[in-house]
This record gives sequence, structure tokens and C-alpha cells, in this order.
Amino acid sequence: MNTASTSYDTIKHLPSIVTVPSNMTNLANITRVSHNSSNSLSSSLPNSLSVPVNANIQPDVISYYSETSEDYRGWSKSYHMHFGYFRFNGWGHFIKNIWRLEPQLNQASEEVFQKLAVKEGGHYLDMGCGYGATARLFAKQYPKSKLTGISLVASQVQEAQSLLKAESPNSINKVDFKKMDYQDTAFADESFDGVYAMESACHGRGEGRGEFLAEAFRLLKPNGTLVVHDAFTSKLHKKELHKTTGLNFIYNWAYHWLCKGWAVEDYINKEAFEAELVRQGFQEIHFKNAFWNVLPSALHMPRIILTYFLQKMLFSKDFYRNKGLRKQRINHCLGSFSAMIVALHVRRFNYYVVTARKGNNQKGISS
Ligand SMILES: C[S@@+](CC[C@H](N)C(=O)[O-])C[C@H]1O[C@@H](n2cnc3c(N)ncnc32)[C@H](O)[C@@H]1O
Repeated sequence: MNTASTSYDTIKHLPSIVTVPSNMTNLANITRVSHNSSNSLSSSLPNSLSVPVNANIQPDVISYYSETSEDYRGWSKSYHMHFGYFRFNGWGHFIKNIWRLEPQLNQASEEVFQKLAVKEGGHYLDMGCGYGATARLFAKQYPKSKLTGISLVASQVQEAQSLLKAESPNSINKVDFKKMDYQDTAFADESFDGVYAMESACHGRGEGRGEFLAEAFRLLKPNGTLVVHDAFTSKLHKKELHKTTGLNFIYNWAYHWLCKGWAVEDYINKEAFEAELVRQGFQEIHFKNAFWNVLPSALHMPRIILTYFLQKMLFSKDFYRNKGLRKQRINHCLGSFSAMIVALHVRRFNYYVVTARKGNNQKGISS
């Protein structure tokens, strides 16, 4: 599936207008070679064709999620903010269900519960809970267990709480939401039987998300399980990031807009994450390549962008009145289109379900 080595004549000259430092881990560092470049192609290129430079991506996660909350409503009626998970169960099932997005989103949450092996009376932590869609499913399925969801965004915490109250009023003693940074929580050591992060670890700091993993390790009870669903970059991604020929150029450009549009500084590097899991003391580390499981839900994106996003954008008064909102939502659309381009480069960027276990009587390196 990887087409990275192909090159197209039409864009073969583009490298001369951009340089990408080979040691970069953040596309914010892309720098433009002087505008006075002698290359005639560079001066005749429309701006949209050159890699966006000096964009200085410093994602503001809170404003991103505040301004794009409507878009996530378009993605999922129950406010799931992640990709789905499709389990192939024969062709009949495939043909019937591939068109239905919501069950795939629910299945992704189901996968987490299965990996955690949720037990009666256990207490679990959702690190980056969004509007609590996974937490609400948890509340219905495990009424005798507890779950705490944390998010950096206060409005998500409030909305998650009211959606839970409306849907499962009996669960409010078992499930709660708090505004907290998952890299520095207020919980005591060994508070949880399991912790999970559904497409939220991507927003953490460091290429191996050391602070996020240290906190997860600290909060887990002995034998507790960590589950992470997210997209990861590979060694090849890092190696080729400085190359700007042919498809490298398209990939790098799309990757930049993906990060910018989805408020991610730089996606997690798989090797660095794995090394960090080991360093923290996690055991039984397992990465499941979930490309084919996630793809059917990702294929719903163009339809949703074209119908919901554009409709909401073009027919919303706020879109015309509020410049900040307009910019954020356009970037969000661009990010979503770019995600589809980036996702084709499976050897550089791929989706994994990661599980790891804290052993018995283990102390983390930060304790
Ligand atoms: C893509 S959304 C996923 C939400 C939810 N897990 C879901 O799948 O529906 C990412 C979530 O991570 C949260 N987040 C990002 N950085 C965070 C941090 N440092 N601490 C806590 N939550 C964070 C965001 O507020 C958002 O709720």
C-alpha cells in the first residue's frame, strides 16, 4: 500500500523551495528557503502548493475542541470523537454493516472494555474522555463498576456530565468527569484497575509521551492494564521527513495540515512510545495494527465532511461573523482531508491498539 517511493514529474522540482531539517520531530520547524531562490518554478508556484512554512504549530487543544465541538456532532450522534473499529464477521455482515458508522464507533469502545477485562467493582480511568461517549457505554454495560473521565476542556466535562445524567441517571454515582491534565492528575497512586486513552494520547507531550505514560503507570494498581487507541508515526516517517521529492512532498504537506487541523503538535512515534513503555516498567506490551479495522469508519469521512461540515459552515451565521471560528473549522476540514492522504502511507503512519500491563509490586521510574 505504501507508495512513498513513487515520484511524479510534475512536482519533482518542488524540493528546491523547501528544506526540512533531518532532525525534526515537529513540522513547525519547516523553514522556507529564501523567496529569492533562483529556481524559477518556486516563484511561479501558487502558495497553496508549497509546504506551509513557519506555521509554528503550537496547538491550543482547548480552543480547538471548543470551536469544533459541532463538527464532532456531525461525526457521531452520541458524540464519539474517535475512529470506529470494524470486526470482519463474514461477507454478509460486512455488506450489511460497512455503511453504518455508529456501531463501528461503539465497537471501538467495546474493544477497550474487552482489553481492560472490566471487572465488577473495579475503578477505571478515561484519560481524555471528550464528551463521554465511551464512558456512557461503560455505565450501561458495567453498572457495578466505576469510571472517571478526565479532559482538559471544561465544556466537555460539563456536557459529558449532563449527557450521562440524561441517558443513565442511575449511573451518576458510578461515573464522573473532571477537568484535569492527564499528564499531571490529582489522583493518588494506584487508584485504578485500568486506564485507557481513546485518541487522546496524541495530544500529549514528547515523542514517546513519557509524561502521559508515567502518569498512567503511577495511577494503575498492580496488574492494571493500559489501553491506547491512536495513530502512530514510524521510523520511516522520521527518516523521510527531510525528503521532499515526489510523494514525500505530498505526504509531508498532508501531515503538516493534519497536525495543524487536528491540534496535534506531532503524532506519537511508535518506537519512542514502545521504548517509553518499557522504561516506565510496563510489561506484556502489545501493538495491534488496526488499519483494516479502522479503515471502514475512516471511509465515512469524505461524506461527512462534504455534507455536514460544509453545510454547517456555509449556512452558519457564526461562520461568517466569527473569523477565529471560521479559521479553526476550515483547518479542521483540511485536517480531515489530509488525514486520508496521510493514512494511505501505512509504512509511515498507522493506527494501533496498544495494550500493556503494570506488573505486581512495580514502582514507576518517576516514583
Ligand atoms: C479526539 S478527542 C477523544 C475524546 C474521547 N476519548 C473519544 O474518543 O470520544 C481527544 C480528547 O483528549 C483530551 N485531551 C487532550 N489533551 C489532554 C490532556 N493533556 N489532559 C486531559 N485530556 C486531554 C481532549 O480534551 C479531548 O477530550
